[in-house]
Amino acid sequence: MSRGRFITLEGGEGAGKTTLARALGEALRARGAEVVLTREPGGTPNAEALRALLLEGDAGRWSPIAETLLLYAAREDHVRRLIEPALARGAWVVCDRFSDSTRAYQGAAGGLAMERIEAIEAAALGGMAPDLTLIADLGAQDGLARAASRGEAVTRFEAHPSEFHERLRQAFLDIAKTEPERCAVLDARLEPDALARAALSVIEDRLGLP
Ligand SMILES: Nc1ncnc2c1ncn2[C@@H]1O[C@H](COP(=O)(O)OP(=O)(O)O)[C@@H](O)[C@H]1O
Ligand SMILES: [Mg+2]
Repeated sequence: MSRGRFITLEGGEGAGKTTLARALGEALRARGAEVVLTREPGGTPNAEALRALLLEGDAGRWSPIAETLLLYAAREDHVRRLIEPALARGAWVVCDRFSDSTRAYQGAAGGLAMERIEAIEAAALGGMAPDLTLIADLGAQDGLARAASRGEAVTRFEAHPSEFHERLRQAFLDIAKTEPERCAVLDARLEPDALARAALSVIEDRLGLP
């Protein structure tokens, strides 16, 4: 069995990542692939326990460096116990947020130097990276309005001021510019079906379909 494919979905709050992840999971399964849908922070019992520490409480509960260490502790567990074994058996792994979210939230928007994040990432993951990253790009206000319309409790990150969310959007676009071979930007104003079609067409071009 050849190695599977690792696709990550990135973007701000309410951009439609979770909705897109489900649609991609269905479409890839319909083509006969084994699909593992997962999310960060979380995806394994240890990482989900860390997720609760990361998403609950005041916006300023953790410093950016403490947050980053917790995120990479969760990510290392997730990669080692779930993602790598799935890729090794040939599955397509679709992960709702991954390392780029740390670069955008704790780095570009949170003020932690990118070299520090990269040093922690190298120690935790040793260069493991997605085959393809789809960035759902949406204005911060539109995204926050969509997130609010879900009617769920506001997370620590949604509670940050709106300039933080504008910096996030720019950070994801900058990552896509820096790593155009790994990343593709999608216009998240598209309605869900059209967004999923656009995403599948990028997957077909970059990785081939299952
Ligand atoms: N492409 C889209 N167009 C319009 N609304 C969307 C779209 N994708 C998701 N939504 C709605 O917006 C809200 C946030 O979507 P969600 O997938 O939870 O975003 P995220 O996971 O990026 O925070 C949900 O209520 C969802 O139904
Ligand atoms: Mg989501």
